[in-house]
Amino acid sequence: MSVLITNVGELVTNAAPGAGFYAVRDAALVIENGVVAWAGPAREAPAADEVVDAAGRAVLPGFVDSHAHLVFAGERGAEFAARMAGQPYRAGGIRSTVAATRAASDADLRANLARLAAEMLAQGTTTFECKSGYGLTVPDESRSLALAAEFTPEVTYLGAHVVPPEFEADPAGYVALVCGPMLAACAPSARWVDVFCERGAFDADQARAVLAAGQAAGLLPRVHANQLGPGPGVQVAVEARAASADYCTYLSDADVDALAASQTVATLLPGVEFSTRQPYPDARRLLDAGVTVAIATDCNPGSCFTSSMPFCIALAVRDMHLTTEEAVWAATAGGAAALRRSDVGHLGVGARADLIMLDAPSHAYLAYRPGVPQVRSVWTGGTRRE
Ligand code: NIG
Ligand code: FE
Repeated sequence: MSVLITNVGELVTNAAPGAGFYAVRDAALVIENGVVAWAGPAREAPAADEVVDAAGRAVLPGFVDSHAHLVFAGERGAEFAARMAGQPYRAGGIRSTVAATRAASDADLRANLARLAAEMLAQGTTTFECKSGYGLTVPDESRSLALAAEFTPEVTYLGAHVVPPEFEADPAGYVALVCGPMLAACAPSARWVDVFCERGAFDADQARAVLAAGQAAGLLPRVHANQLGPGPGVQVAVEARAASADYCTYLSDADVDALAASQTVATLLPGVEFSTRQPYPDARRLLDAGVTVAIATDCNPGSCFTSSMPFCIALAVRDMHLTTEEAVWAATAGGAAALRRSDVGHLGVGARADLIMLDAPSHAYLAYRPGVPQVRSVWTGGTRRE
């Protein structure tokens, strides 16, 4: 069964020779066996079993949200309200979500995850990463990852999110647990290992230990780096050849140089700066240095409770000074690079047929009409989902 989507006003493929945003006007695309079988000018399109008339609308690769924390219970709306009334954001709030998550049933955690995954899909996200990190015991981390794996293959072990209260006096003991029995219980459900390398969470040596243990167990590294202040996170990420260093809000020149000389993607999370009133990272400095930049939501109950990639694109354009093309690339192909995926984030022939149709004629409308639902249809693996 093949599907021809034709009369596409703007087809974003990100699939021209040479990296970067790429779009074709008056285009068409054929899906067959779950992948893109053909893309090109509408007038040259081959026949197919089913035809969808896009009526001049834009078609894009589905968004790739490479950073999300969706396994949790409870909410922190009051903390957000207090922050907007002048309180600073502190990583310590994580512990209140940890308490609620430990007390929740599997069914409650699964239902919350399903609701957030559905929100993401409706807003055009066709691939998302999902971290543990609100359990912080062996059984709570391992069930968090098993639940995440029900929804996505991009599962990340974040036992090293914060030191839980019962280890307050023995952080080294907690790191040993994260690198030992907890890792052994979690590695079978995960693809990635992550660590929150930040003052108040884990220092450089602890972060290196967590990443090395995870790598020895077959997991690939990624790092929460330089979110709340300057620090060693980016350097630790680059040293470990991490797929991504996330946040990158406070960078030294040496951090920028290290990223530029590496294969590590800088994943920017503009919803976090929006929701914590922190300064935005200097995205132009990274792009000008030649760093690969991704945009993701960081969807979590504390620092940023949005599941919306279109919202993050709008912020990246308005407040981080990305062009509309750069922001859409970062939210699709950039996210794929941050997850080391070559099958998503673009619509070249052979790509997974994960794509969205907007109720708009061009990708720019994602930033031009912020807050307006414009994702009209979504296909994943060639199947229409919305
Ligand atoms: O912002 N950076 C660390 N932790 C998470 C969630 C924090 C929270 O629950 O407040 C984040 O990615
Ligand atoms: Fe995060």
